[in-house]
Amino acid sequence: MSNLIEQARAKEWFYSFELPDGSTTPTYHGIDIQAIHDTRWQMVQSCLNERLGSGRGGLTALDLASHQGWFAVNLARAGFADVLGIDARESHVEDSQLMRDIYGLEHLSFRQGNIHDLDPEQIGRFEVVLMLGLLYHLENPIGALRACRALCKNLCLIETQIVPGMNGYVDYGSYQYVRPLKGSFGIIDETEETHGPEASITGICLVPSLDALIWILHKVGFSDVTVLEPPADAYEQLRYHKRVMVAAQV
Ligand SMILES: C[S@@+](CC[C@H](N)C(=O)[O-])C[C@H]1O[C@@H](n2cnc3c(N)ncnc32)[C@H](O)[C@@H]1O
Repeated sequence: MSNLIEQARAKEWFYSFELPDGSTTPTYHGIDIQAIHDTRWQMVQSCLNERLGSGRGGLTALDLASHQGWFAVNLARAGFADVLGIDARESHVEDSQLMRDIYGLEHLSFRQGNIHDLDPEQIGRFEVVLMLGLLYHLENPIGALRACRALCKNLCLIETQIVPGMNGYVDYGSYQYVRPLKGSFGIIDETEETHGPEASITGICLVPSLDALIWILHKVGFSDVTVLEPPADAYEQLRYHKRVMVAAQV
């Protein structure tokens, strides 16, 4: 065990993991960035408590874009019976497995995968699906939201950057045929950053407006979509609605 902890302490992490010996993992963004993780975990926990009650026994959870496994580890420690984390980057999967071994969480596993290639017939469907910090790194966000719905049996929590929305009407083929906009997407260029550990793997990113996100979630088959209220001391991006977390119920 002390050997595993030494391995963890020898590198820099995206998350400040609290290790069993009381130390924490060094982070590469400085300690400030941990506030966004803490706010998001607080929002996840309070939504799970409200929607699922206190018991987690027998429930399964999937963490999409699990990075180094911080949210998946938290889910596994919060009592879910089985937790799977999936991330496109193999190095993140290796880091996550080290954390799983350090905490001795046998009901937690990780695998490498692209959200667009996941087959529910193979990996199963999960009571709870998290997709935090991924949507705005994708060139096919609607496909990702469809994947969330296909993989989810009960509750999906999606957290994403959003852009200011464009509303109104557009002449659609003819001035006599006018259609309302249901929302909009902003394009962000990450094409020079695809090597980055948090970045897109393709570089072309479509970021939804809040209207777009809510409308699409209904259209891909969620029955109820609620924007979650951030806590009073939330990380600024969530407090000022630059990012949102939504609860989408099957
Ligand atoms: C900003 S990080 C968010 C990580 C974590 N979910 C969180 O919120 O702290 C984005 C993550 O998405 C992963 N990722 C990017 N494109 C992906 C894809 N197409 N499928 C699965 N994971 C992807 C990256 O490797 C990275 O770990």
